[in-house]
Amino acid sequence: MLSRYTSTLVLLSFGLASAVPATKLYATHYSTKTVYTLSLDRTSNGSYALTEASSLETCGTYPSWITFDSATRTIYCSDEYGWKNANESVNGSLTALAAAEDGTLSEIAVTGSAPGSGVHNVIYDGEDGQFLAVAHYSGSAISTYKLPLEGNADPLQVFEFELSGPGAVPDRQEAPHPHQALLDPTGGFVLVPDLGADLVRVFAIDKSSGKLSTCPSLNYTAGGGPRHGVFWTGEDAPKIRGRAPGAAPQTILYVAGELNGEVEAFAVSYPTAGCLGFRQIDVDVPYPEALPEGASLGEIRLAGDNIYVSVRLDAAFDGDDSLANLRRGGNGTLAFKEITSSNGVLPRTFAINKAGDLVAVGNQLSSNVAIVTRDPDTGALGEVVADLVVGVPGEPNTLEGLSSIIWDE
Ligand SMILES: *[C@@H]1O[C@H](CO)[C@@H](O)[C@H](O)[C@H]1NC(C)=O
Ligand SMILES: *[C@@H]1O[C@H](CO)[C@@H](O)[C@H](O)[C@H]1NC(C)=O
Ligand SMILES: *[C@@H]1O[C@H](CO)[C@@H](O)[C@H](O)[C@H]1NC(C)=O
Ligand SMILES: *[C@@H]1O[C@H](CO)[C@@H](O)[C@H](O)[C@H]1NC(C)=O
Ligand SMILES: *[C@@H]1O[C@H](CO)[C@@H](O)[C@H](O)[C@H]1NC(C)=O
Repeated sequence: MLSRYTSTLVLLSFGLASAVPATKLYATHYSTKTVYTLSLDRTSNGSYALTEASSLETCGTYPSWITFDSATRTIYCSDEYGWKNANESVNGSLTALAAAEDGTLSEIAVTGSAPGSGVHNVIYDGEDGQFLAVAHYSGSAISTYKLPLEGNADPLQVFEFELSGPGAVPDRQEAPHPHQALLDPTGGFVLVPDLGADLVRVFAIDKSSGKLSTCPSLNYTAGGGPRHGVFWTGEDAPKIRGRAPGAAPQTILYVAGELNGEVEAFAVSYPTAGCLGFRQIDVDVPYPEALPEGASLGEIRLAGDNIYVSVRLDAAFDGDDSLANLRRGGNGTLAFKEITSSNGVLPRTFAINKAGDLVAVGNQLSSNVAIVTRDPDTGALGEVVADLVVGVPGEPNTLEGLSSIIWDE
């Protein structure tokens, strides 16, 4: 009986393994100037194997960030080359790539009209098509493009920002530094955490033209250095306007501050006319004690009732860095749970898969992608099941090493 049972199990797991197609991921790498296609395969005994399937040298001088549009299988890659200062303004580039079903990449369009130093981008919808908003760190700007991107296309709009004087952390806040472009849950607004200006900039999308118009910003804590944010929303939230005072907030923005090492939570309101309202409801240090000297927050992600934040250069796990796990309470405030290993050095980015059972961690300096398990019920992160060095490792304080990682799904 036992042997029959065992062989049935083996057959079942063989059948399952062969039915599960390999999952693809895409990673950008600063110093090899390359976008890599990775393949995550399940072997017949249930273990995972992560391999490099293909690669393409593309995306300018410093490939920094990619966004994947699964409907058109298009990747938008921002190049962090370029800057703006008192004397000169140097552009970066924006590249659209086609991803074949097997993950093979080819260039569709490149434009050098992008302001300098693109570090993040997001796709948004208008009535007649899609648009891309790009955050430019050293370029101190936001640009938008009509999609599909055409070769040498000009931006639809460029918003350039200035500071009247340095911020509370003068060496990092000498100029505005937009670090991310994200959409609110209604798809009606683009938000841009600006690390240099201590603002979360807000833009309303005009759906007919795809153009952005400037809304009042969220004034962030001085010296906080907002880097990346993420929204939580209750199911019907975006439709609810003018809710009763005192009701639990239905839309919350969580922001990781790179410079003060804190996660701040803001209840978001949708006044009947106009832009967005914000009310700070919580401030947390995503760590068991004060953040170690030299450590800083990187990426922030949400799945279910858990918020994850990468902690760079805390070296808490035999020289490897951390991912912090916080749990949302019913009123939106966060409780710190634990840190687990990022399985590498300087986790600049990480991405949770749709099933919520795997997390791909992009460690910049060790230049590895580590796949760790996630329990979809408890949100706990578990062991590393696959690990791959991609490109070449980087040196601290340079634009080297692995810069971003996303799932193809
Ligand atoms: C599973 O199979 C792979 C090769 O397919 C092998 O490398 C690995 O050691 C096996 N793992 C276990 C736990 O048997
Ligand atoms: C701009 O040029 C002036 C004169 O050449 C120089 O002194 C200054 O440092 C430059 N500023 C920047 C930000 O590079
Ligand atoms: C740089 O980008 C701006 C738009 O942001 C464009 O007007 C200008 O022509 C570009 N410069 C070059 C050299 O491509
Ligand atoms: C944000 O700061 C600006 C400049 O100090 C101020 O004019 C504005 O009223 C502030 N906004 C809010 C919502 O407090
Ligand atoms: C939110 O809930 C937590 C416990 O879940 C509690 O400690 C905290 O006081 C609450 N905050 C507010 C503003 O109600």
